[in-house]
Amino acid sequence: MEKFCFFDDGSFYLNQPDQVSYLYFPLANVEGVMSSVTPELSGDSKTSQNTFLLSPVSSEDLHNNKSSRNFWCKINGTSIWSVTGRSAWQQAQKFSRDREETRLEAGFLWHKITRISKALGLKGIITSFVPANHDQVELMKVELTNIGAEAITLEPAAAIPLYCRSADNIRDHRHVTSLLHRIEVLERGIIVNPTLTFDERGHKINEIVYGVLGGNGDILPSKFYPTVDSFIGEGGSFENPRALQDDCLKPMKAGDRIDGYEAFGGLGFEEILLQPGESKAYIIVLGYGRSKEDFIAYGEKYLSEEAYDQAFEEMKVYWKRQLNVRFETGDDNFNHWMHWVTIQPILRRIYGCSFLPHHDYGRGGRGWRDLWQDCLALLLMDPREVRTMLKENFQGVRMDGTNATIIGKNRGEFIADRNNITRVWMDHGVWPLITTHLYIQQSGDIEFLLEKVPYFKDMQAVRGEQKDTLWTEEQGKTCLTQDNKPYLGTILEHLLMQHLTAFYDVGEHNHIRLRGADWNDALDMARDKGESVPFTALYASNLETLAELIEILEAKGFTTIELAKEMEVLLANEDSYGDYKKRQSILMEFCMSTKHKVSGETISISAKTLSNILRGMGQFIKDYIRNTEWISDGKDAFWFNGYYDNLGQRVEGVHPSGVRMMLPSQVFTIMSGTATDEQVKLITKAADQYLYTREIGGYRLNADFKEVNLNLGRMFGFAYGHKENGAVFCHMAVMYAYALYSRGFVKEGFKVIDTLYSHSMDFEKSKIYPGIPEYFDEKGRGMYHYLTGAASWLMFTLIQQVFGIVGKMGDLTFEPKLLKCQFNEDNRAGIAFDFAKRHFYVEYVNEEGLDYGEYQVKKIAGNLGEHFTENSSVIKREVIENLQSDQVYKITVTLGRKGENEWI
Ligand code: G1P
Repeated sequence: MEKFCFFDDGSFYLNQPDQVSYLYFPLANVEGVMSSVTPELSGDSKTSQNTFLLSPVSSEDLHNNKSSRNFWCKINGTSIWSVTGRSAWQQAQKFSRDREETRLEAGFLWHKITRISKALGLKGIITSFVPANHDQVELMKVELTNIGAEAITLEPAAAIPLYCRSADNIRDHRHVTSLLHRIEVLERGIIVNPTLTFDERGHKINEIVYGVLGGNGDILPSKFYPTVDSFIGEGGSFENPRALQDDCLKPMKAGDRIDGYEAFGGLGFEEILLQPGESKAYIIVLGYGRSKEDFIAYGEKYLSEEAYDQAFEEMKVYWKRQLNVRFETGDDNFNHWMHWVTIQPILRRIYGCSFLPHHDYGRGGRGWRDLWQDCLALLLMDPREVRTMLKENFQGVRMDGTNATIIGKNRGEFIADRNNITRVWMDHGVWPLITTHLYIQQSGDIEFLLEKVPYFKDMQAVRGEQKDTLWTEEQGKTCLTQDNKPYLGTILEHLLMQHLTAFYDVGEHNHIRLRGADWNDALDMARDKGESVPFTALYASNLETLAELIEILEAKGFTTIELAKEMEVLLANEDSYGDYKKRQSILMEFCMSTKHKVSGETISISAKTLSNILRGMGQFIKDYIRNTEWISDGKDAFWFNGYYDNLGQRVEGVHPSGVRMMLPSQVFTIMSGTATDEQVKLITKAADQYLYTREIGGYRLNADFKEVNLNLGRMFGFAYGHKENGAVFCHMAVMYAYALYSRGFVKEGFKVIDTLYSHSMDFEKSKIYPGIPEYFDEKGRGMYHYLTGAASWLMFTLIQQVFGIVGKMGDLTFEPKLLKCQFNEDNRAGIAFDFAKRHFYVEYVNEEGLDYGEYQVKKIAGNLGEHFTENSSVIKREVIENLQSDQVYKITVTLGRKGENEWI
């Protein structure tokens, strides 16, 4: 199998990509065009669940061609050749010695596939991209070159099957929805305007047109095949169409219309003569419009090579600007790999979790966790709008500390949950604080915590256990006071609501109840008695973080904190902490008092008292976990048990079928500071023994339980080594790395990232383009590529931990944890990033070639204006705010041997 190679700008090439299955590449813009494309131009294109231009594909559809874009050439009036390789005869030769040469080149975000037929003396190149502007189109340029010794005649034809409807109709009403199609042949293409839409929203007037245009300047299509049957003919197929082979199919012409059939973008061009060495190009535009005129206006302007090339260059510049975080270690391949990782959070924002061929949720949308994770990456890449976005997201928190789980299309829009069985994910409360804390540290904007926002309201109450039957849609999705005014609480109060309710929401082992699941969505069958230790631990450190933030507020003069009166009961004294029943009854009392409406009254509590209570709670949890959940295999391996199942039984430890260990249980006990340093050391040994498999990317999510455990979750129904059952699940593995780095276990953290990186880049095994996938399966194949929270966390880990670019209440500090092997041969490592809306490039200089542990920061130098003093360990906010926003500032951070002359 071939390997891919990078060019300097991060683009790469790969020979014979068509010999590998499941490869797909994203093409998108922020206007909502979401395409995927394979080496043979399969994949699809849509702007939402209900507006698919090309027939929706899942990964298994990639090897059939129901939606493949195609481009045909009839050569010398006889044989037909597919530039995408999708003809029956080319497919039949694919594994023979006569196979055609193919080569992929791809960059941010463009895809270029070259196909060479030596036998026919022809080379075809198709370059695809989506312009980085407001146009909802995908563009293809097809370049045909005669590479033979003889002149040839060519009759080219674009062939794009047009689906033009909701993904729901792939089975439901597949045929009758084609009866809705009104198809018109234009001067330069074909447009489909369905009369109605039939989908989950009912029968509605359709508002989107779809179409294909083609040509190049004066070159216009002259034969049109606007329906599937007009192109493939009776008995034909997309891989063996009759249109170019058979005179019995009569093409249509501009101005013709046909209604009620499966639509097709078949655009035939006049026959041309190509001399040896000569080339000809055709531009094809696939897209969407609000009306026919709208679509023609967007689309036609691209129908010349100059216009296409200009849009292509603009798109490249756009993505270059977007990808402003760059890493420069001594390993170029690693740097390029990370470059691709940095585009993934942007892709997740565009595609959600549903719109590439491997998809988690079928219907679009993002979850609560994803929402906050996206903000995490945004904070690191483009923090301009984050404040408003964070504020809007807090409106999804309910009065019982849970949150809306159906997230609307517009920012800050949450949808009422009308399910009878409500799902509460017990981890949901931890993510907003992690993101908000990063925001505050990066910006110094502590007053953000005092902004007031409403609470979300729907029928769900008492943390998913009861329904508020008094609530009606008319009351609205905002929690009201007794006198029917929206109740507004500070962001700090929202955060406290999430953490304090969770603190009391414990099971009989006094850990927080698992409820519908935690981060691991597939731990979903322990609703009654399940408990999650790892996230209890994370709540503990979050409680301490809240205490810290309140202390900062106090130091700024906010000595009292205003809270909803009902919350008073949640600030009970520590006598109740050890008794799970007492904790449960406190929670119940609180939830009942806010079930329908709230009083609207508030209490004031001294900041000092509040922060002491929060610290006490955090400390209690940590001690309690240390005392109760530290387990061993009976030999010399030790780690934390993380779960109780629906029978109230401990999950991890020694079991007749083998040792059971889970990675999340270790990650969050480490990250939260629950595990002592000694314990971290032992955990890493145990994880190496029970979870590490280098051949498939490193640390698995869990050991093999060898049973379908119906008392814990559906994950055990998955075959072992796949997805949430024991795969190397990159998001958790990366969080493991983060946790280890944050505790100073740098070599161990490096090992986690290095194994993920090496495996991802080992194309023979991972079989994915550069980037980090959701997980590696049992054979090591990268799955669910691109759309994963692993990317945001990997960036976060690299920036904050490895390169140690840390915001401290708005100041910039440097705490590198780079190993010697990560510096280049000149003992330098660099990072480009934005901070406080300014661009920086930091170069660490490690002249003595010291390793982590041996060095410390000795000097920070740079042309940072008059307010900056070189012998300081931080760059103050005032210094940064006096810098220009359109310039890149280079900062040199000199590292020297620890302990020797402190500051040079
Ligand atoms: C996916 C989900 C994420 C969930 C995880 C484990 O992970 O999107 O919310 O926590 O599975 O069940 P991701 O796509 O972030 O890799």
